[in-house]
Amino acid sequence: MAFAAIATHEEPRVVLSARGLTKHFGAFAAVKQVDLDVQHARVHALIGPNGAGKTTVFNLLTKFLQPTGGSITLLGTDITSTPPDKVARMGLVRSFQISAVFPHLSVLDNVRVALQRPNGLSTQFWLPLSSLDRLNARADELIETVGLKRERNALAADLSYGRKRVLEIATTLALDPKVLLLDEPMAGMGQEDIGTVANIIREVAKTRAVLMVEHNLSVVADICHHVTVLQRGEILAEGDYATVSQDERVRLAYMGSEET
Ligand SMILES: Nc1ncnc2c1ncn2[C@@H]1O[C@H](COP(=O)(O)OP(=O)(O)OP(=O)(O)O)[C@@H](O)[C@H]1O
Ligand SMILES: [Mg+2]
Repeated sequence: MAFAAIATHEEPRVVLSARGLTKHFGAFAAVKQVDLDVQHARVHALIGPNGAGKTTVFNLLTKFLQPTGGSITLLGTDITSTPPDKVARMGLVRSFQISAVFPHLSVLDNVRVALQRPNGLSTQFWLPLSSLDRLNARADELIETVGLKRERNALAADLSYGRKRVLEIATTLALDPKVLLLDEPMAGMGQEDIGTVANIIREVAKTRAVLMVEHNLSVVADICHHVTVLQRGEILAEGDYATVSQDERVRLAYMGSEET
C-alpha cells in the first residue's frame, strides 16, 4: 500500500502511564491496580477474555470514567483529574470519539470536517464546506495514508463496512493524536480489510503511540510490540507476544473464551 510520507520509526519513550488504576462500579471492581506504560512509536495491545475490563481501562485513560483509585500521566502531566475534552486536546484520542462518519458526505469532505475540529469531541459550530478548501492538501495526504485515494469522491454511505472503518481511522488521524486508542479496530472486518488496517496501524505508530484492544490474536502477534493481558480487571501477564502466548495462565484464561 502507498503511504503519503513514509515515516521512519522514532525512539520509544513512555508517553502514557497508569499506576494502580482502579475502577469500582458499586461493590464490583471492574479494574484493579492496573499499571500500564504505553510508549511512543510502539503498538501496545490490551487483550483478555470478554468482561476483563479492557474497555473500562480505555474509558479511564480518556477520562470518560473517573478512576476510583490510582493515577494517570500523559506526556509528563498528571491527568487523573483532567476533564476528557482537555485530555483529547492534549493528544490522547480514542477512535470512537470521532468515529461519526457522515454518510451523505464524500470521503474527502468527511476528512476535511474532521480536520477543522479542535478536538475529538466536536462541540463547535462547523464552517461551510466551501471554506474548508485550505484543508485539501492535508486531507489528501491522510486519504492517501489510509489508502482511500480511489474512493476520495465517493459518498461514505457507498463504502463497504471495512472501508468505512478505514475512513473513521482517517478522521481520527486528522486530530493528529500523540496517543491513539483503538478499541477492536478490526471487529467485523474481512481478511483483506484486516490486512489494510494492520498496515495503517503499523505505519501510523512510527510517529505516535498506539494502544489497541484486539481479539484477533494473529493481528496482535503481527503488529504489536508489547502485550498486556487483563483478566477480571487485573493484569495477568505482559511482555512481547511470544512471551505472553507461552504463559500457561494466559492459555488457561483464554480457553473456551477466545472469540476468534
Ligand atoms: N458502567 C458500568 N456499570 C457496571 N458494570 C460495568 C460498567 N461498565 C462495565 N462494567 C462491567 O465491568 C466489567 C468489564 O467490562 P468491560 O466492558 O471493560 O470489559 P471488556 O474487557 O471490554 O469486555 P469485551 O471483550 O466484552 O469488550 C464487566 O463485568 C462489565 O459488566
Ligand atoms: Mg470491550
